[in-house]
Amino acid sequence: MTLAEVRSKYLEFFKARGHTIIPSAPLVPENDPTTLFTGSGMQPLVPYLLGQPHPSGSRLVDSQKAFRSGDIEEVGDNRHTTFFEMLGNWSLGDYFKQEQLPWFFEFLTNKESGVGLDPRRLFVTAFIGDERNNVPRDTEAAEIWQRLFAELGIGNKVVDIGSEENGYVVGMQGGRIFYYDAKKNWWSRAGVPENMPVGAPGGPDSEVFYDFGTEHDPKWGAECHPNCDCGRFLEIGNSVFMQYIKNADGTFSLLPKQNVDFGGGLERIAAVSENSSDVFTVAHRSIIAQLKQSTGKEYADNIRAFRIIADHVKAAVFLISDGVRPDNKDQGYFVRRLLRRAIRALQRIEGA
Ligand code: SER
Repeated sequence: MTLAEVRSKYLEFFKARGHTIIPSAPLVPENDPTTLFTGSGMQPLVPYLLGQPHPSGSRLVDSQKAFRSGDIEEVGDNRHTTFFEMLGNWSLGDYFKQEQLPWFFEFLTNKESGVGLDPRRLFVTAFIGDERNNVPRDTEAAEIWQRLFAELGIGNKVVDIGSEENGYVVGMQGGRIFYYDAKKNWWSRAGVPENMPVGAPGGPDSEVFYDFGTEHDPKWGAECHPNCDCGRFLEIGNSVFMQYIKNADGTFSLLPKQNVDFGGGLERIAAVSENSSDVFTVAHRSIIAQLKQSTGKEYADNIRAFRIIADHVKAAVFLISDGVRPDNKDQGYFVRRLLRRAIRALQRIEGA
């Protein structure tokens, strides 16, 4: 499926479930001096997650443009991009886990209303709990997933992967649903609970991974598991249960409203809809075709350079269209850096 097809299916799917479609916020945040760019779908919605009523209601859906400057050096592998669109659906104190997880599963697996992925290729995670911060294990999410897989006759074993300290070494063990620690299954803009500033919202999350069924590469660890970086699994969506706020004394309280903050990678979902582990060949298809034509070179012979050009040119175009101009400081510095890196990659192709 193309990006446009996945995007419109997603927006329509949630519209049919009572959500109002809201436009993407600009890439340069309007009222947030703490950051240069909008890097996630929730960023423009923070005041509403903290309790302020949203003018469009308590069920929202969007496709948010995002730019992650920290990922510039990562671009070149099969999945990292600096610019992407994050599909988001939001419950501002409205529905919760019992609706969110079945809806996202239906969107991924249903051929008519959604993307039609093979559910046997999907593996999911939930939060193992954090005694220090008094946040319980998310058994509710795991039980919902168990039911959804059981209804399709798919094995639904739950496995404790545990913490990063143990190296996530327990492996797959025939599992379908995996409990991870806060490093993997807690979401806040600052990461784990300990790093969150006072007043920030956060919560446990439940991620969905697509399995390409490739061999595990032991370079990445003794055992494979959904969060392994060997390339077998790709994360395609994250349902954050935005329930907590950090107090001044470091403890956590429940927010006035229990929210859902879902973020799904538009480009990644489009790629897996074609069972492709290369996000670029699906999400940047037309840029790659154009590059092939204008350079006379093949993607397969210049993969890294083609990917860098495709991502950086797309990111620069979207930043410029949101009013950023190449400069030597702030946002403009990144446009300049993107264009310079794209030109260097082009010179490498032409010299090849
Ligand atoms: N806030 C979560 C993320 O960015 C889900 O939208 O992954």
